[in-house]
Amino acid sequence: MTATVITGLAPILVYFWPAPPKGQKKGPINVALQTPVDQLQDGDAVKFDAPRNPNSAFIMADGGGDNAPGELAFGGFVVKNQGKVNVFAINCSHLGCSVALAKAAPGHPEASFDCPCHGSRFRLDGSVLHGPAAYPLSHLSWKQGPNPSEIEVEGIVLGF
Ligand code: FES
Repeated sequence: MTATVITGLAPILVYFWPAPPKGQKKGPINVALQTPVDQLQDGDAVKFDAPRNPNSAFIMADGGGDNAPGELAFGGFVVKNQGKVNVFAINCSHLGCSVALAKAAPGHPEASFDCPCHGSRFRLDGSVLHGPAAYPLSHLSWKQGPNPSEIEVEGIVLGF
């Protein structure tokens, strides 16, 4: 009976099961930075975008709220904070808008990643400084590239 059901369903499941898009490939994506990691000053961040040719995205290593491990990001920041370098996805954890670096200035005493959509702010270590976001920024897995101005970020070549 079970064999009959499987034999009967298999051709139907194969028909409906989505085939992986041709050319999709997970792996490290090489990213050129405007400021090399070893030249970042404490409190500095440098933004980067996912390559468009071929069309690629980064894969979040963690996250909460609108972000989650395995979700895609199309940009990020390398940030140096208290001597530590982190790489964050650009996506706000509230509803996914792109955050931007706001440097410390008069009236804005603490540098932060600010979201233009609903006012969330994140400290340079990714933690929430101001809601409505309730979860920190998501990390991207990365390592230093072949030269100081390149990093390799875990991602996927989308193939379209
Ligand atoms: S999406 Fe960033 S505060 Fe809502």
